[in-house]
Amino acid sequence: MNRVYIKTYGCQMNERDSEAVAVQLRDRGYTVVDDEKSADIVLLNTCAVRDQAEQKAIGKTGHLAKRKRDNPDFILGIMGCMAQNRGTELLDRLPDLDLLVGTQKFHRVPEMLDQLIRRENALGPRPNTLVDLEEEAGSEETIREHSGDQRQVSAYVSIMQGCNMHCTFCIVPKTRGAERYREMDSICAEIEELVSRGTREVTLLGQIVNSYGMRRIAYRNGISPFVQLLERVNAIEGLERIRFTSPHPRGFQKDLVEAYGRLEKLMPYVHLPLQSGSDRVLKRMRRPYTRRRFLEIVAQLRAVQPEISLSTDIIVGFPGETEEDFHATRDLFEEVGFDMAFIFKYSERSGTPAAEMEDDVPAEVKDARNKVLLEILGRSSLERNTALIGTEQSILLEGPARKGEGLFMGRNPGNRKVLVPANPRLVGECVPVRITETTVTTLSGHLCLAGVDESSAGMLAR
Ligand code: 5AD
Repeated sequence: MNRVYIKTYGCQMNERDSEAVAVQLRDRGYTVVDDEKSADIVLLNTCAVRDQAEQKAIGKTGHLAKRKRDNPDFILGIMGCMAQNRGTELLDRLPDLDLLVGTQKFHRVPEMLDQLIRRENALGPRPNTLVDLEEEAGSEETIREHSGDQRQVSAYVSIMQGCNMHCTFCIVPKTRGAERYREMDSICAEIEELVSRGTREVTLLGQIVNSYGMRRIAYRNGISPFVQLLERVNAIEGLERIRFTSPHPRGFQKDLVEAYGRLEKLMPYVHLPLQSGSDRVLKRMRRPYTRRRFLEIVAQLRAVQPEISLSTDIIVGFPGETEEDFHATRDLFEEVGFDMAFIFKYSERSGTPAAEMEDDVPAEVKDARNKVLLEILGRSSLERNTALIGTEQSILLEGPARKGEGLFMGRNPGNRKVLVPANPRLVGECVPVRITETTVTTLSGHLCLAGVDESSAGMLAR
C-alpha cells in the first residue's frame, strides 16, 4: 500500500521538486517506483505555463481515475503549478482526486499521504480530497534533499522560488508566488554535501536566477548577490562545473558577464530567454529590454568567452504580433545564431494581463512562424555543432547512454550532449574527447587519453 509513482510535467524546477518529494517520501517509509502500473499511489507534478501542458495532465488524471473503480484504495494526487493555478475548481472536473497540493506545500505530501491512508484504513465514509494550496513562509528552504543512494554526477539545486517580473503572458507569478531566496550558507552546504557524494556539476535553479537575493543581500563592490553566490559556489572544492537557469536579460549586468571571464567553473553556456525580437512586442509583453540591448549582452558575452553557447525561449503569435514584428524576431534569431532554443506558440493563460488582449494571431499563422524559426534553429545548431568536429572537448561523463552498448553520455562545456564509448569507471570524470560526428542535437566522439586518441591507439596495437 505504499508504492508511489511520481510523474513530472514541465521545467527543471518541477523535476527538482519531484526529486525532493521522492526523497521525503522514502524517508517516511514509502517506496518510490519508476513504474506507474505497479504503484498504489500516483502523484502528478504539473505544469501550467501553456494550456497544452494542463490538458495533458488533466487527460492523464481522468485516465488514472478509472483505476479507482477497480481499486478503491488507489490514491491519486495532483501537485504543483496546475494545482496552484486552478485550485479547487479542478475538483469539479476531477472529483476522484485524493490530494491537491500547491507549490509551497511539496514538503507536506508525506504527512498528507499518511493521513489519507490512516483514514482509508478506518471504517466510515470515503475521505474528501485533501487540499493545501496556501502560501508558506520559508517553503523555499524545503527543496534541498537529494537522493543519497544514487550518485548524481550532475545535480539541480534550487536557489529561490517565485518571480516578481510580471511578464504579461506568464502564469508563473500566480503559480509560484513572489520571489523568496534561500540562504547562501544553506545552498553552499547542500552543494558541499552533494560533492561529498560524487556530484561534479550543479545547475542552480530559479525562475529568474539573477534576481537572487535582490534587496535582501547587499551588493559588494558592484557585485550582485547572484554573482556573490556564484563566487562562493566556484570556491567549493571538488565541484568542477557550474551552470544556472534561467537568467533574465534585464539583470544581465556587467558583473555577471565578467563572471564568465574569471570564474573557472562557470561553464560557457547561457540560456537567455528573448521571447521576441520586436521592441513593440517586448513592450506589450512587459519585458524591460530592447532587441538592441539583447544583442549588446550577446556581444559582451562573446567578447569575454568567444566559444560561449547560447540558447533561448521565443514565443510566436503573441497578441498583436504583426508580420513585421515576426520578421524582427526572425532576423534577430538568425543574427545571434543560437545553439539551442525552445520555440512556443502563444497560449492564453487566464488571469494574466495578456489574456485581456485579443489572441488575434490565427493558429495557422502561429504554426507557420513556429516552423520558420525551427528551420533556422536546425541550421544554426548543425552549423555550430559541425564546427566542433575534429576538436578535443572536455566531457563530463554522466552515465550510460540510453541506447548503444558501451556508449556513455556526457556534456561538453557548452552543454551539448556527447556520446562516447568509454569505461564505467570514467563516469563522473571530465575526459578529453575528440569529436568525430554530429547531428542537430548530439555530438559523438572517442576518448583521447594521454595525448593519444584511443581508437588510433587501438589500431596501433592491432
Ligand atoms: N504561451 C506560450 N509560451 C509561454 N511561455 C510562458 N508563458 C507562455 C504562454 N502564455 C514560455 C516562455 C518562457 C517559457 C518557459 O515558456 O518562452 O520563457
